[in-house]
Amino acid sequence: MLEPFRQAIERLKKENRYREFLDISRICGEFPCAINNQNGKKITIWCSNDYLGAGQNKEAIAKAEEALKLYGLGAGGTRNISGTSHILIELENEITKLHSKEAALSFVSGYVANDATIQALAKILPDLVIFSDEKNHASIVAGIRNSRSTKEIFRHNDVAHLEELLKKYPTNQSKIIIFESVYSMDGDFGEVAKIIDLAKKYRALTYVDEVHAVGLYGITGAGLCQALGLSDQIDIIQGTCAKAFGTIGGYIVGKAEIIDAIRCLASGFIFTTALPPVIAAATISNIRQAQINDSARQALHKNVSLLKAELARAGIEIIKNNSHIVSIRIGDAVKAREASKRLLTEFNIYIQHINYPTVAKGDERLRITVTPLHSALMIQDLIFALQKVL
Ligand SMILES: Cc1ncc(COP(=O)(O)O)c(C=O)c1O
Repeated sequence: MLEPFRQAIERLKKENRYREFLDISRICGEFPCAINNQNGKKITIWCSNDYLGAGQNKEAIAKAEEALKLYGLGAGGTRNISGTSHILIELENEITKLHSKEAALSFVSGYVANDATIQALAKILPDLVIFSDEKNHASIVAGIRNSRSTKEIFRHNDVAHLEELLKKYPTNQSKIIIFESVYSMDGDFGEVAKIIDLAKKYRALTYVDEVHAVGLYGITGAGLCQALGLSDQIDIIQGTCAKAFGTIGGYIVGKAEIIDAIRCLASGFIFTTALPPVIAAATISNIRQAQINDSARQALHKNVSLLKAELARAGIEIIKNNSHIVSIRIGDAVKAREASKRLLTEFNIYIQHINYPTVAKGDERLRITVTPLHSALMIQDLIFALQKVL
């Protein structure tokens, strides 16, 4: 009975796709440091998506403690049959305000937000055709597959290719273009303005995943669309609370009718227990902070510039982009794994190697994320270690 499982593991190992998960303990107040539970040593994390260190914000923790005492641990069930904790409505109001949209809907994760929303859209829009960037995240790919809609995959950021595909369909056919604002592996920006133009021309809806941009870009941290002044021209913005906002949960925002219809038809919203109030309380606090105080955002971008400059000075080539994501292409699965292992064991630096299928074969890399909490000394240590290992 276990043979197929053994074979699957063997196959994954042979193809360098077997995943190992590092056992660490994050310590509140000490991020970006953590304990490597393999040897008890203190490590510096250089691959966290807690981009601003918001996971340890004192005010958010105080709000969570307050909510814990007031409301207990869980949400008590699905919102559909057990009621909506009022604090989740407050969270959705805060997200709505952040994006200056009419309404928001929260999900248990950003992954579920994409998967469930795309499936619901296919139920709402008859004969929907989905146009999707080839580098879209696995959760978008899953949503499209599960929606069983007709799909057209356009080459990454290639708007000419997108237009070719759009042209194939009659004007009155339902269409939606799904793309990301910041692509998490190469850190390049989506072609937001050009895609909006095409959407208008071919009467398509627009759906943008801002998971790697919310909290980090725009005057109040609403993401890249806000920074570009284009939020109002996007039909559905999807985001997460699990990265720059330091907690967990995903969401969509848009016009009230769009959100209301999705609320009633998204299986991944209706048939799962809602986020715990304690998480909602902390998230509201972090989203409010992001809107009123941009110091963490500023400090992040300053550190990104410093890290990129130091890497250039050391002659370490990175994938060029204008974002906070720093990727060093290794181009070989075994070498990428080996580099990651040496950084950890010899230098107590944790950078998870990224292999297929997260990136294409031959595109294996070290993906580095710096935060406002990484010091100049930590950056120097990183450069030294990278020079030795690479
Ligand atoms: C582009 C993109 N969208 C969605 C998600 C899923 O978000 P979450 O981690 O909140 O489930 C991720 C996760 O890393 C992502 O990179």
